[in-house]
Amino acid sequence: MVQLHEMVLRDGHQSLLATRMRTEEMLPIAEKLDAVGFFSLEVWGGATYDVCIRYLNQDPWDRLRALKKAMPNTPLQMLERAMNIVAYWNFPDDTVKKFIYFAKRNGCDYFRIFDALNDLRNMKVPMEAAKENGGHVQACLSYTISPVHTVDYFVDKFHTLVKMGADSLCIKDMAGMISPKRAYDIIKGCKDSGIKLPMDLHSHYTSGMTGMAYQRAADAGVDILDTSISPISGGTAAPATESVVAAFKDTEWDTHYDLELLIECRAYFLKVWEKYRHLHRFDALKVDPSVTLHQVPGGMLSNLIFQLEEQGARDKYREILAETARVRDELGYPPLVTPTSQVVGVQAVMNVLHGRYKVITKETKDYCRGMYGQPPAPIKPEVMKLVLGAKWKDEVIDKRPSDLLEPLWDKKKKELQEIDGGALIKKEEDVMTYILYPQVALKFLRGQTIPEFTSEQLPLPLDHILTRGMVKQSFPEVKQLWLETLPPEQRSGPAQIPTEFQVEVNGEPFEVKVVPSGGFMVAGAGTAAAQKPKDVEGGVKSNLQGTILKVKVKKGDKIKKGDVIATIEAMKMEQEIKSERDGEVKDIFIKEGGSVSTGDLLIQIL
Ligand code: CO
Repeated sequence: MVQLHEMVLRDGHQSLLATRMRTEEMLPIAEKLDAVGFFSLEVWGGATYDVCIRYLNQDPWDRLRALKKAMPNTPLQMLERAMNIVAYWNFPDDTVKKFIYFAKRNGCDYFRIFDALNDLRNMKVPMEAAKENGGHVQACLSYTISPVHTVDYFVDKFHTLVKMGADSLCIKDMAGMISPKRAYDIIKGCKDSGIKLPMDLHSHYTSGMTGMAYQRAADAGVDILDTSISPISGGTAAPATESVVAAFKDTEWDTHYDLELLIECRAYFLKVWEKYRHLHRFDALKVDPSVTLHQVPGGMLSNLIFQLEEQGARDKYREILAETARVRDELGYPPLVTPTSQVVGVQAVMNVLHGRYKVITKETKDYCRGMYGQPPAPIKPEVMKLVLGAKWKDEVIDKRPSDLLEPLWDKKKKELQEIDGGALIKKEEDVMTYILYPQVALKFLRGQTIPEFTSEQLPLPLDHILTRGMVKQSFPEVKQLWLETLPPEQRSGPAQIPTEFQVEVNGEPFEVKVVPSGGFMVAGAGTAAAQKPKDVEGGVKSNLQGTILKVKVKKGDKIKKGDVIATIEAMKMEQEIKSERDGEVKDIFIKEGGSVSTGDLLIQIL
């Protein structure tokens, strides 16, 4: 018998609907999902926490409690990014332990724990915490293809995870590129070498091989397979639940699930799928076997395309794919999953736009110093030299990255108690939200987050700003077709659907841009580009599009070539902007929190 791990309420919509499914869309079907008898239901963690507070104005803890109440019979599972928890950087041990304690207390039963680099030191604390709180630990290894990621590599690491106290094991093939043979060999290797724990295979349909890989995994004795109810499956999401159930019917792997009940779930999610039409992306649904060559997961691909468009370099796409593979090799073959996919992807973009390792992100530096953990293979010394300088050996840490961090909980709790007279803490979990996402949390906890949409508004009308973004992406020719139905004299004007708008929020003008993830990018009040001069003598311009995080100089400062004048958040990462000349700061044209485009004037140095 094979059991299924159902992912429609987490990975499914994270892969195909930008993680935007709202809690009230989940609850009406909960009773039926609970009745199927799944091994576990994935409902929480991954990107859901961030999206809940940032875009949906929903409390992730409320969601977890509500789902547990509605599904008391099936173990609920969360995806936990080891020391990154549900964010993108390392947290100290005390915070990780607190988080796991809260998650268990609010209804999470199973903890799927993974580390992007498969550095098992990063998995120890969350694994122990989950056990201490009575949780089930599903220890994962991130799957990738490289000369070091052999079958023995995975089998050996799984043996160590057994010793570390795992309750079940999982191959996490986030890019959907595992071949039938690989799936068979790893699982068979584990089983034959004496691993008794249940083994799970997590994959996505991206390469188109996944159905075959699941069959071969079953041949090798896999215990659990990961699937998603059909309307939110396939493409960059997992294989369809009902299909796998039907395929194994009357075989030795029969799940014995009620297919009619599953088809009722399907009918429900068909309606959900239609309601979220503004998030449909054709590209995400296409089978893409090229993933097996370039190894870039679907989510990262669409992100790359978006980042290139943002930087005005869409034509560099092919070059960047090749560069991504090259950077990954040089950096010791990290599996490309959050957050390493961002490190490698952004550095590849920088290398193509500005020359190899000419612009180095803070994240690449941290990665090379070992701040994400130990890379699977040594980083090429010549790259270490370029990134960290001639004395790079002194810069590298040999510790577990979180060993360098001071405890955070008490400090941050006190800090939040002092904000707004302590009014923002309604429950202890609110402190956790504040630690994980400080800026977004303050807005959220103050009740100032404006949801992108509410369930009552769905489906969004065709002329809605978010739907137009989808139409523009999926049918770029639509406006042209429509124009062609008009008499020639009426066909004038740009055949473009606008993607930038000025809107007013509480009387303040905001620039709003439609971005392909379906999200808004708000440029901030009054940042009309027209107010800035285009060029001045001694002007330093931005070579990136992004948001200014910190302005590090003030008027009158004397600075030298190479000094950092500001930091900018571009492509979700922090980058430094350096002065290209010596002189005195005469004028500053940016402010913290404001947005800049490529070529915008930042400061004047004379
Ligand atoms: Co996944």
